[in-house]
Amino acid sequence: MPKVLVTGGAGFIGSHVADVFLENGWEVTIVDDLSSGKPENVPAAADFQQISVTSSELARLVTQTRFDVVTHLAAQIDVRKSVADPINDATINILGTLNLMEALRAARATTRVVFTSTGGALYGDFNTPPNYETYPKDPESPYAISKLSAEYYLAYFGRVHNMDSAAVRFGNVYGPRQDPHGEAGVVAIFCGRILESKPLTIFGDGSQTRDYVYVGDVARAVYLAATEALPERGRLDARAFNIGTGKGTSVVDLAKLLQQAAGVKARIEFAPHRPGEQQDSFVNADKARDLLGWTPSVTLSQGLARTFAWFEQRVGGVTV
Ligand SMILES: NC(=O)c1ccc[n+]([C@@H]2O[C@H](COP(=O)([O-])OP(=O)(O)OC[C@H]3O[C@@H](n4cnc5c(N)ncnc54)[C@H](O)[C@@H]3O)[C@@H](O)[C@H]2O)c1
Repeated sequence: MPKVLVTGGAGFIGSHVADVFLENGWEVTIVDDLSSGKPENVPAAADFQQISVTSSELARLVTQTRFDVVTHLAAQIDVRKSVADPINDATINILGTLNLMEALRAARATTRVVFTSTGGALYGDFNTPPNYETYPKDPESPYAISKLSAEYYLAYFGRVHNMDSAAVRFGNVYGPRQDPHGEAGVVAIFCGRILESKPLTIFGDGSQTRDYVYVGDVARAVYLAATEALPERGRLDARAFNIGTGKGTSVVDLAKLLQQAAGVKARIEFAPHRPGEQQDSFVNADKARDLLGWTPSVTLSQGLARTFAWFEQRVGGVTV
């Protein structure tokens, strides 16, 4: 049985990634420090270890077990927290990734590492979307800088140490198990507000666009990046894949679509524009289609309906 280590597997996307590997007959180990992840997200069939990716225990684990693949999702994901405490962000997102890569290098492992990066913050506000992988990077937050730095390290380990890796750059991921309390996740926040009969707050005029991509599609993209043949190693973007729908949806339209999908009417309130917020962000994902055979299969309306149904069931006390 092939073996995969999913870091951050008690989190939103990581738990779906673990599900896809289990469905495909892999032995799954999950590492998560539960700083934001939840034990109930860990699939019963996976081995779970509560350790930090910055720890020597992680290094020991990847040295002792020969993993065929590591999908690296453990991260500090909150842009605003990265601004408030860039040292903590860099410690987890850069040094955690280096800790993993150095341990694999020292163990002479042939493991493929799939790193989960961002297709939003990475390209910054200076490009005109849709953003292609090779567009100039202008990270504007410590979070985006740490993600880009980790990608540079992966490229370095590939070039100098012949190590196998890919980076998947996600749009705005939404779906069941997303935490409605974090900054990331407007869909989860809106679902929570609707179920509490509270208004949906839109910052600015709501014309800002994002590339909303369903978590099941994203988890499949991670699996394909872990198992398909990859292009030659080379420059930073050689093995980077945008994962998104190619479409920008405004927050106002998202709020409308969600109300339709949920079959409810919610009040919308507008709040002042948040300084530093990107206006438009969506990606071109043709490379993932052409080289990994990946295309999104869940439409925004379908995905919103599934997501709202999951939140509704949870409020009703039913665990999914
Ligand atoms: N959600 C999105 O829209 C989105 C977009 C682009 C990229 N990403 C990336 O995808 C990955 C997963 O994001 P998510 O949305 O599922 O977030 P999440 O917070 O649900 O998952 C991250 C997980 O990492 C764990 N973690 C944090 N620090 C850790 C540490 N030091 N050691 C071990 N575990 C640790 C957390 O407990 C959590 O379970 C992240 O790398 C994130 O940067 C997410």
